[in-house]
Amino acid sequence: MNKKKTQKLKEVNNLRKTLITTFIVLLSVTLTYGLAGAVTGTCSQCHTMHNSQDGSSMARDFNNNPMSSPQSNLTVSTCLGCHNGQATGAPVIFGTYGTDSLAGGTFRNNDFSSDAKGHNVKDLNDAGVLGVGLETDNIIATPGNGGDSTITVGLQELTCAGELGCHGNHDVAGDTTVTGFHHGTYPNAYRFLRHWDGASYTDIKGKGTDTYEEGGATATDHNVYYAMSDDSATSNDSISAFCSMCHGEFHNQTDTISGSTWIRHPTEVLIPGAWTPTVDYDRNPFAFTGADYTDVDTNAAYGTDDNPRVACISCHRAHATTQDDILRFAYSDMTAGGGNTWGCLGCHDAQR
Ligand code: HEC
Ligand code: HEC
Ligand code: HEC
Ligand code: HEC
Ligand code: HEC
Repeated sequence: MNKKKTQKLKEVNNLRKTLITTFIVLLSVTLTYGLAGAVTGTCSQCHTMHNSQDGSSMARDFNNNPMSSPQSNLTVSTCLGCHNGQATGAPVIFGTYGTDSLAGGTFRNNDFSSDAKGHNVKDLNDAGVLGVGLETDNIIATPGNGGDSTITVGLQELTCAGELGCHGNHDVAGDTTVTGFHHGTYPNAYRFLRHWDGASYTDIKGKGTDTYEEGGATATDHNVYYAMSDDSATSNDSISAFCSMCHGEFHNQTDTISGSTWIRHPTEVLIPGAWTPTVDYDRNPFAFTGADYTDVDTNAAYGTDDNPRVACISCHRAHATTQDDILRFAYSDMTAGGGNTWGCLGCHDAQR
């Protein structure tokens, strides 16, 4: 083989390598994004086959102590244990509020210090970490009431997932409600959230940042929420439709408008074009009908979509906060004419 030919072969080989590398990089980018929420890692990080190794229990409870009872799907810990930092990469839902808490707020009991500051989830009580005691409430309608029905299951305690909970599927009892979600079976269900109308599921749309907004949402790192159009609020795919599975009367035009007057605070409606809302990703987020959920850049929806709408989570967080009614801001800071520009006044500029 002469020198020239060898050189040529080398170049071809290099080009081929570059192409293969590019292809692999592109493929992994597509896969990572396509299967948002899918876990990676060795099986043994998260599973224990028999909950036994040399006769000792492998499963861990919330406090990382060995637990003799095996868990559903053979996991090494409970929902709360893994999400208290035991599983690498699992969002920690017990951060210090405002420091390393996530978009949903925090279930840390020093912050979630009274009943009204959060969703009193039974799993927290069972693990001994709900400082404020359990609350039963009959506002919980069977998830599956279509957002607005009178079907209630009476006084019930809320759970993390399942029939009486928020994450996972709602038509199956017990721990199997999240089965498959961690491995990407429902890649389009934002944060493992699905709306169930008693007959069928609608995945909640949204685009979550990989950091779960740890430490607070910023211009370069925030979730993107989806809104239904207020004219045809039937698609049930928005974050507010999700809340309305249990809180029907806070939602929907029948409940929020009478004739042409608002009687409850509207959700899903457009912020009137004449207003100048503050863009404050943490204290004043909006939702969008036309947000681009395929774009990897979560900032795309802000700035380019000039049609922000109101969502439940414009004012509330989902887990718990340091404020009553799980608010994102202190309601007592909202003073007409006081000059504040966030919370209520982030939108209502005429009242600043
Ligand atoms: C980072 C944690 C993690 C790793 C790593 C992991 N799993 Fe899982 N897996 C889970 C969790 C959590 C569940 C239970 C909830 C769910 O299904 O979403 C689960 C559920 C499952 C299920 C039942 C649900 C389904 O999708 O069929 C199977 C099977 C499974 N895992 C197999 C494996 C195997 C095999 C490996 C290794 C190749 C593995 N897992 C690695 C966390 C993990
Ligand atoms: C699966 C049913 C269910 C869903 C879905 C649900 N909630 Fe709740 N919510 C409840 C129950 C039950 C209570 C009362 C008991 C409690 O606080 O845990 C409650 C209480 C509340 C409270 C009052 C807190 C208090 O203790 O005074 C607020 C605010 C709230 N929810 C907002 C929301 C928002 C916002 C969403 C959507 C992100 C949502 N909820 C989704 C069942 C649900
Ligand atoms: C064995 C450990 C383990 C257990 C048990 C577990 N999780 Fe997770 N969970 C994880 C990990 C790891 C992730 C991060 C997934 C990723 O890499 O995107 C995660 C992610 C999540 C997410 C965020 C999904 C997203 O949008 O990125 C939710 C919601 C969730 N888990 C809920 C639950 C619920 C509810 C339970 C119990 C019914 C549960 N998890 C049990 C390890 C666990
Ligand atoms: C504009 C801000 C805002 C929006 C949007 C909003 N809320 Fe509220 N919500 C509040 C405030 C403020 C309170 C407490 C004081 C009050 O009721 O005036 C409250 C209270 C609540 C309560 C407690 C009621 C009780 O009986 O203790 C629930 C439940 C609730 N909201 C759910 C929702 C749901 C579900 C949505 C979306 C469909 C929603 N909120 C949208 C601001 C809002
Ligand atoms: C995310 C933006 C947003 C936030 C935050 C918000 N509002 Fe609103 N609010 C709206 C929109 C949009 C309307 C409907 C305005 C319209 O159609 O003219 C509305 C309507 C109202 C109305 C009825 C006005 C009328 O014309 O009858 C009141 C009162 C009100 N809001 C008070 C509040 C209070 C108090 C807070 C804080 C707890 C708050 N709002 C937070 C966007 C917001």
